[in-house]
This record gives sequence, structure tokens and C-alpha cells, in this order.
Amino acid sequence: MAQKRKKPEDRTKQESRKRAEHLRDEIEHHNYLYYVENEPAISDAEYDDLKEELAAIEEAYPDLVTPDSPTQRVGAEPKEELGTVEHESPMLSLKAVKSEDDFRHFYEMCLDELKKKRVSLVGEPKFDGLSVELVYENGKYVSACTRGDGRTGEDVTENVRTINQVPLRLREKGASIPRRLVVRGEVYMERKAFDNFNKKQEKNGKKTFANPRNAAAGSLRQLDSKVTAERPLSVFFWEIGPSSSSRPASQWKCIEAMKSWGLRCNPLTERFDSVDKAVEWRGKMEDKRDDLEYEIDGCVFKVNILDAHEKLGTRAANPRWAIAWKFTSRRKTTKIKSIKAQVGRTGALTPVATLEPVHIGGVEVSHVSLHNQDEIDRKDIRIGDTVLVERAGDVIPHVLKVLKQKRNGHEKKYHLAKKCPACGSKVVRAEGEAVSRCPNAACPATVKQSIIHFASKNALDIDGLGEKLVDQLVEKDIIDDPADLFELTEKDLRKLELVGKKKAENLLKAIEKSKKKATLPRVIFALGIPHVGRALASDLAAEYGSLDDLAGASKSELSKTAGMGETIASAIRAWFGNTRNRKLVKRIQRAGIDPKARKRGSKLEGKTFVITGELDAMTRDEAKEAVRMQGGNVTGSVSGNTDFLVVGKDPGSTKQEEADEHGTKRIGEKPFLDMLGKK
Ligand code: IVH
Repeated sequence: MAQKRKKPEDRTKQESRKRAEHLRDEIEHHNYLYYVENEPAISDAEYDDLKEELAAIEEAYPDLVTPDSPTQRVGAEPKEELGTVEHESPMLSLKAVKSEDDFRHFYEMCLDELKKKRVSLVGEPKFDGLSVELVYENGKYVSACTRGDGRTGEDVTENVRTINQVPLRLREKGASIPRRLVVRGEVYMERKAFDNFNKKQEKNGKKTFANPRNAAAGSLRQLDSKVTAERPLSVFFWEIGPSSSSRPASQWKCIEAMKSWGLRCNPLTERFDSVDKAVEWRGKMEDKRDDLEYEIDGCVFKVNILDAHEKLGTRAANPRWAIAWKFTSRRKTTKIKSIKAQVGRTGALTPVATLEPVHIGGVEVSHVSLHNQDEIDRKDIRIGDTVLVERAGDVIPHVLKVLKQKRNGHEKKYHLAKKCPACGSKVVRAEGEAVSRCPNAACPATVKQSIIHFASKNALDIDGLGEKLVDQLVEKDIIDDPADLFELTEKDLRKLELVGKKKAENLLKAIEKSKKKATLPRVIFALGIPHVGRALASDLAAEYGSLDDLAGASKSELSKTAGMGETIASAIRAWFGNTRNRKLVKRIQRAGIDPKARKRGSKLEGKTFVITGELDAMTRDEAKEAVRMQGGNVTGSVSGNTDFLVVGKDPGSTKQEEADEHGTKRIGEKPFLDMLGKK
């Protein structure tokens, strides 16, 4: 690599061919280290140099381009339609069970049929993506197709070629590579990548997707592979297909072999020699589910020895040697009783559906946001419809789809009102925006929402000031912006229903107390600037250190702040450019709220922490904020990037094991507080 880069014209064609081959191996190797192992060995610039050199050779000698060249990952010419491919051996689907009893029953059946006392199993997460089959010949990527109906799938060769995690040539390490290798796995989209992708789509006025699975499927089944190349797709391989020229003797060895060839397999996969251990592992997976970067909807258990697969055979398109044990469903069907528009603190009108209440994952869901009119139209949601509602982890419930077959003809279409339901102003919808807004800054609904937000837990955290009190305060014309809260008197509060002397005193105390707790990130968040959530508020606090400095920042300065795009920078600038908002900030400062934050370059700059267990001195959110204030970061799970695992009371064992695996330093609460400079 230290070798000085020659221009293609300085080499003979034969030399160029050799150099190109060398570069392809080299690039594929670094691709593997980066995308599969997550441990890059060279800088992005060095990697780009290798790719540029190869591209220059291929441009000089187009006939030297090979289909497995990394330059071919950018996508090919669009197709009229995806061709179909017949699978050499059918891609079956898994029988699913929901209970431990049924799972044990499956295991007993295996023992009986195989006439054994013990059968070893391999457990893998059940990934929520779509399955694909890839063919490699002599270690080189040849083709890929989707599962389709199990017998024929769609040809997605060009699309899969664009996925960086898919090797175009296999590594010749470990087990020898079968001449013809058929591997199967799951293409999916990581949760975070999905959120970012959907945001980008929305910003560009393009189709958004209901969940990562749909996004992965939509991205893979594109006619234009250049579009697929832009989508953040990932893959886990879970099987060496039976039509390969040879296979290792067990599922476990298949996984090991695939890993050695550079095919990305899931690290949570385990082998069990008893059914009890399998049951225990599945419980752990269910607990871990929300911490994973990708969605899983259960666990798959496979009989380890492949010979046994032959003996057990298949029944009704399901193999009898494998089973999916699903997690409890987070989707339920219910009916939409009505839809009403709610006005938010930025004036945005959000249609919210009232549902026939359903319990999903232990929580009663009775309302669900339908986001905007486009979303309602796209999903064709009507009042009276039966809908499938999903509530996954800490994600807000949403409508996945309408069950149109349940319609009886009495369903009613819904159209967002043209006038604000709170103040009657004509609603505006800016060109290219999906959201309709009430333009009236003094609209009582907007005012109420901005005050509720200001007083909320993660903002100024004014204890006892709930929605009902704010409603009355605004309706009785006692306050009309958040700064008015600091001028409230006991007499004002006594005008409200159900507020006696004691309650009034307590509220005034809570307002006073909130001033003391008002750190800069909290105050910035409390202002309710469009697009500024908690994380960005913390970043802005660390970047600017005070309200005055933030208010004075130009758009171009702002757009340099961590990951913030032009749109958000403009929104912040516009917010501070508005006289009414400037006055509001001044009045908040005059009330005694003008916190300062340590700017970037502080002690914990660039350090990443993970916290397990409970801390005595502060809540987890407070600890997060304190770390962020000092330029550090707190994440949910331990990875190679974690610097410290803070171990509090009753810590979880998984995070500690992961810390040991990554060699992450563990510290107790006291040294952690010392680092934060807190007693
Ligand atoms: S093995 C005989 N392993 O689940 C079928 N499938 O209903 C062998 N899936 O279409 C499938 N994670 O898309 C297998 N670790 C895993 C899986 C998995 C997800 C999907 C796959 C398949 C469906 C089976």
C-alpha cells in the first residue's frame, strides 16, 4: 500500500489486470473488516484511494471489469421488471409456537423420531426482515433471489450486490469453500438507520415506510439497483442451502464456516445440549429484544446435526427439524371510533384517532396519532375501520394497516379541517410539507401546548402543573406564555377551580424550585424550538454555553453543530429571529433563569459511558445530562466504542459480560461522580 500509485497508462494491460485483482482482494478485505467485523484497519481516505485506483484502471480497460469487482456495488441499469428464479430446493417457512409447552413438545417429538435421549439445538434470533438466497461459485458472488412463494423468487442479483455487508468474493479461511455454495439469510434494516431513512424520505417528500421490515423489502425489490445502493440495508446469514455442492455436518459448523468465509452471522447464536438451556436463552433474548439494533420477533431453534434434518423431513411446507418460538405479539386489531385534530405547540395540526381500547404488551392503547393527512390518505384510514395497531418497546403506538376486508360500507373518510379547531384561523400547509399548521402565534391551543411542554418533566419539570391547570390559566387569561408562569401570584392561582391555599402555595414553590434545576439543556429544550429535542438541546448547550450565545449564533455556525442539517439550523435561526420569542427569552432570563453550560473541549469530551443498575445520587436521565454537559455521551449498550461501564446498584449481568468481552473499563458510582466533579 505504501507503493506510490501508478497511473493506468504507466502499466501494460497485463500488469493492470494483476494490479486490479490485487486491489479487489485488498478492498474486499477492508470491506470485511469495516462492515462485518466492525473493526476498520485503514482510514476512510486510504480506502477511497484504493477504490479510486481500481476505478481508474477499469476506466482505462473496461474489459477488465469483473462482476465481483467492488466498483460494481453502485448499482446497474434499471430493469423493466425483476425476473423470476426457481429455487433448486424450496425455501420453506417455519412452524411457529407461542408457549414453552409447545416448544418442549417440539423437542420431545425430535427425541422420539430420532430415538435419542438428547438432541443438540442451535438457537438464533428470528430476524424481522425478508429472506434471500445467494449463490457463490468458486468463492465469487453470482446471483441472489428473494424467497417469493418458496418455490420461485425474484431475481435481486444486482440489488444484493450493492449491500456492503455482502462479500463479492469469499475469504479462503477455515473450512474449504464448496465449489457451488448456496447461502440463505435475512436482509433487514437497523432501527436507527430506518428512522434516519424515513426522516430523509419525508424531508424529500418521498414515500415513508411503516416499519424497518417494509423498508427493507421495498428497498431490496427495487427495479433500479442504484436506489437500493442508497438504502442502509444489513444482512445476517442463517443457513447453507441443501443444494450447495457440500455442507458441514451440523448447523453450528455451517455458521462457523460461513463466518470464516466472511459471511455475516449473528453473534447471539448459541448451541444447547439441553432443552432447559434453550428455554432459558430464549427468555434472555426476549429481555434483550429492545436493546438490539435490529428487530427480532422471536427465536428460531434448529436441530444441530444436518443428518437428522433428513430423518425428520418436512410437513406441510414446514421443516420438522426447526421451530420458531415467537415473542408475545405487539400488534393487535381494533376499531377507529373517531378522528380529531389536535393542535401542537408549533401550531401543527395532528389527526389523532380514538380507538376501542386494546391491551398491547401490558399497556392499554386508546389513542393513536395518524401523523398527517398524507399518511391517512396513503393508508386509506377511515372512521369505523378495523386497523392493525403496533406498539413496539418504547415506541409510540401506530397504525400499521387497515384491514379493508372488514369494511361494511359505513366507514367515513376523514379530512383535516381547513380551520384551526381551537381559534378558527385558516390553516396553512407550506409547499412540500406534509404538516398543516395554525399560523396564529396567539392561538390558545398552541399557547397551552407550549406551556405544557415548558413545564414538562424533561424541560423545567414543574411539579403539579398539569394539563388541566394550564387549560384554566390560559382560558381565564391569566397567562399567555411560559414566562408568565414566573409572575404568577397566589391570588391568581386561587381563581382556578379546585385550587385551594395549600395547592397554590405548593405550585408556587414548585415553580421556584424549577428555576434551580433549570440547566441549559433543559431550558433550550423547554423553549419548544421546532426540531429541537433533548439530544440536540444538549448538543447546543455544549456548543454555545449560554442562551445569549445560542440566540446570537448565525445559521452557518449552527449548521456546523453535530449532525444538524440546513433545515434545522434555519428553524433555530428563525425561532430566535422572531421578536416575540426574543422577548420570551429575555423575560425568562429576567426571572432568574440564565444557566451556563461547560462548552465543548470539556473533561469528558468524546468519552462514551454505559450505565447499568441504579445510582444513588441521581436518576439515569440526570446522569446522562451531566455527562452530556461535559461533552461525553451515554449509550444504551456496550460496544467497542464504550470507554466506561458505570456499575450502580443491582446491575444487570449482560452489560458486565459485554464490558469484559470488549475490555471496557468498569467504574463504580463514586469514581463516576468524581469524573463529573460532583460530590
Ligand atoms: S431458518 C425452513 N433462521 O423466518 C426455513 N429463518 O418462516 C428455514 N427467519 O422465511 C428458515 N430469522 O425469513 C431461519 N434465524 C433464522 C431466521 C429465519 C428469520 C425468517 C425467514 C423465513 C421465515 C420462516
